[in-house]
Order: sequence, then C-alpha cells, then structure tokens
Amino acid sequence: MSDGNTLWHGRFVGGPSEALRALNDSLSFDRRMFREDIAGSRAHVQMLQEVGLINTAELSEILEALDVVENEMEEDNFDWAPSDEDIHTAVERRATELTQAAAKMHTGRSRNDQVANDVRLVAINEIDSLTEVLASLIKALFARVEEVYEQEIYLPGYTHMQRAQPVNLAHHLAAYCWMFLRDVERLGDARRRSDVSVLGAGALAGTSLPIDPQIVADELGFSKLFMNSLDAVSDRDFVADLLYSLSVLGVHISKIGEELCLWASSEFNFVELDDAFATGSSMMPQKKNPDVAELARGKAGRLIGNLTGFLTTQKGLPLTYNKDLQEDKEPLFDSCDTVRLTLVALTGMITTLSFNVESMQSSADSPYAAATDLADFLVERGVAFREAHATVAGLVRQSLAEGSELADLVTGHSELGPQAAELLQPGGGRNRRNSHGGGGEAAVAAQIEKLRDLVGALP
Ligand code: ARG
Repeated sequence: MSDGNTLWHGRFVGGPSEALRALNDSLSFDRRMFREDIAGSRAHVQMLQEVGLINTAELSEILEALDVVENEMEEDNFDWAPSDEDIHTAVERRATELTQAAAKMHTGRSRNDQVANDVRLVAINEIDSLTEVLASLIKALFARVEEVYEQEIYLPGYTHMQRAQPVNLAHHLAAYCWMFLRDVERLGDARRRSDVSVLGAGALAGTSLPIDPQIVADELGFSKLFMNSLDAVSDRDFVADLLYSLSVLGVHISKIGEELCLWASSEFNFVELDDAFATGSSMMPQKKNPDVAELARGKAGRLIGNLTGFLTTQKGLPLTYNKDLQEDKEPLFDSCDTVRLTLVALTGMITTLSFNVESMQSSADSPYAAATDLADFLVERGVAFREAHATVAGLVRQSLAEGSELADLVTGHSELGPQAAELLQPGGGRNRRNSHGGGGEAAVAAQIEKLRDLVGALP
C-alpha cells in the first residue's frame, strides 16, 4: 500500500489531487499522537480477540507488529509513505506490511471513534504533565513566600496602580500561589471530562459486530464509557475545557509577567533579574531586559486565540463527525507546548531573581500610606469610621497644603497623639491587619500554614 493508495481508494478511480492532500492530510501534526494511537489499537485488538473476532495467533502477530511500528516511530526511523494521510493510516499501513493479520485491526472501528479516543488520551497525558510543571512553579513561588516572610520584607500594595497600603511581600506572592492552585483544579476538571472512552462508537452509529467497548475502556484505564455513539465521535468539549483552563492559566501567567516587568523597571527597581533569565540589547549596553516576563505576559494572547479559534470551528457543526474536527489538534498541541515552555522559564526566573528590599520598603514608607491605619486607630477608640476618615483626610490635606510633616500634625492632634504617630513609622501598620486572610503577620502565618498543606499535596 505504500504506492500512494489511500485506505479508502476502493471506491475511487484515480488518486486524490495534490491540493486535496495538502489541505486534508493531518500527519504533519497528528504524528505526535503515535503512542496514544498505538495504545488504542492494542486495546482494540485485545478486545477483538476476547469477543472472538480474531484468534490468539492473529492477536499476537498484530501486537508484535504494533511493537515494531511504535519502536520505529520512537527511534525516528519509520518509513513514512506518501499514502500516510494521518497517524491512524500510517500505523495501520505499516502494521499490515509487517503482518497480514493487521488487515483485521480496523474491525468494528472507524477513524472517527479512533481519533476522538486518541485525542482524549493526549489530553489526559498533557494535563498530567502540565500539572507537574505548574506544581513546580507553585513550589518555587511558595519557597519565595516562606523566605520573604522570614525576612519580613514589605512593599506598597496597590489599587488603581496607586500606592495604597504597605503589605508583606509574602502576602503579595502568596496571592499568585492561590491563583495557580485554582489552575491546578481547573486542569483536573478538564481531565475528568477527557476521561471517557469513546472507542467502540464506530463511524457514528456503533456496529453490528459483537464488540465490547467496556473492555477497551478498562484496558486503556478510562474511568467512564460513552453512552451515545453520535455524541462520542463528535464531542470535543473536553478540548475546549482544556483550552479554557490553559487560557485562564495564561491570564494568570500574564499578570505575574506584567508585575515582574514593572518591578524590573528602573522606575520601580523592586527586583534584580538573574543574568540567566534576562537579555541584553544589541545597541544599548546598559540594558537588562525582562524578556521572560514579557513573553509570559504576551503568550496569553495566543492561548486565548487558540480557545476562541477552536470554539468558532465547533460552532454550528451538525452531528456527527465532520472534517472540521481535525482542527482540534493544532490549537491543543500549541497551547500545551506554549504553557509548558512559559511555565518552565517563569519558574527559573522567579527562583533566581532577587528582591531589592530597600527600594520596595522605601516606596511603601510614605506616611500617607498609614492614613487608613490612623482612621482605624480612631475607630478603635469609639469614633465612627466616616468621622475618623474625615479627620484623617483633613490632616492629610493640611500636610500637603502646608508642606508640614503628617507625623507632627498627628502627634499634635487631640484624638490621635504620639501613640497614633507611631503608625507612621516605616512599615508601620502593615502587621496590624490580621483579619481573616489579611496581610498582617499573624494572618499571613495562618495562610502560609494552609498553603504549605496544599503545596505539599501537589504532584
Ligand atoms: N485525521 C482525522 C482527524 O484528525 C482522522 C479522522 C478521519 N475520519 C474520516 N472519516 N475522514 O480528524
């Protein structure tokens, strides 16, 4: 069959045009699923033998041929033929060259259920591997959380990109740990939806042959089995679920990427990047650029693009298999590869950067950052919050207008006084905010305790 004939040539006179092949063939990108495809074939022929559609001699010949095919592909010495339209045809073509018994391999099966099952296995494998890579990032971040908690480093917390209140750096970095832990959960959700065996649905409507899809599902380790063959061959929701989880993860990566770009700028100067995770300029010798953080920020666009492109392809597709579904693989592979690459680099960058404690802390040390703490001081002494807010706002206004020190105004104020003025000391009120989940030292300690358990349970 390596003469260029297709698997479906029986009904056709003459071969397909070059243009059709170029458009239609998916081998260039689906060959990376060869392991999953061969695993599916092994399970399928195992089942064919168990239900009596092939005998044990045929089974062992086919399994042997599949081992050879897998080995050739693994070793990269597989002889691809012009007729190999996709990975499924390539595997079957080569197996049949190795043993005639393999001509029975496709009994009771269609490429429609085969490809859907392969992509499910790919999704599961990718999710497991990406979860580990994401876990490494979370662990690296959490190590920095514990380190800066010990060192009691703080920085300005921002709202509207304006300095708001001094915050422990551990609290700030831990926020990203929570985001990424939710991404682990989201990947788990996508995994559950992928974990359904659909091999045995046939082309669309099942088969009259006495196959047993449950055997195949068990053999491949799937937890669930499809219930409707039409749905089984056309459902790609699990791909959308995975692309969505990777998009949200991408958004989180882009947020921390942007934050690191800002922090590495001369204007902020909050972090110093390790040389191994920064680049230089070909023209400006003084430059040290945060390319890793910029790409972390930028890759989100492509991840969201893969999701929206894929959903658009799905939209309006009638039951059941349509060739449009072949468009599931490239966005899926690209999003997985993109996230993997980015996570690894980001992890390295976060592990190796150093914090410019002096810059961070002095930016947070403006006495005005303690305004809320001053209001809280009055509230603790029975003043209504609105009144307290107005009193402190008045002092801030006066200090700015007169150019006088806020500390002096506070010290001299009848309701505030020297005790309240202590809140204006560098880093002043940051450890007083110990409400649940707050940024004070005790609240952060409780949070770290909880995080330590969750991080410890990661793969
Ligand atoms: N390469 C195809 C895909 O990825 C395999 C299924 C083709 N089925 C068919 N009946 N043409 O979707």
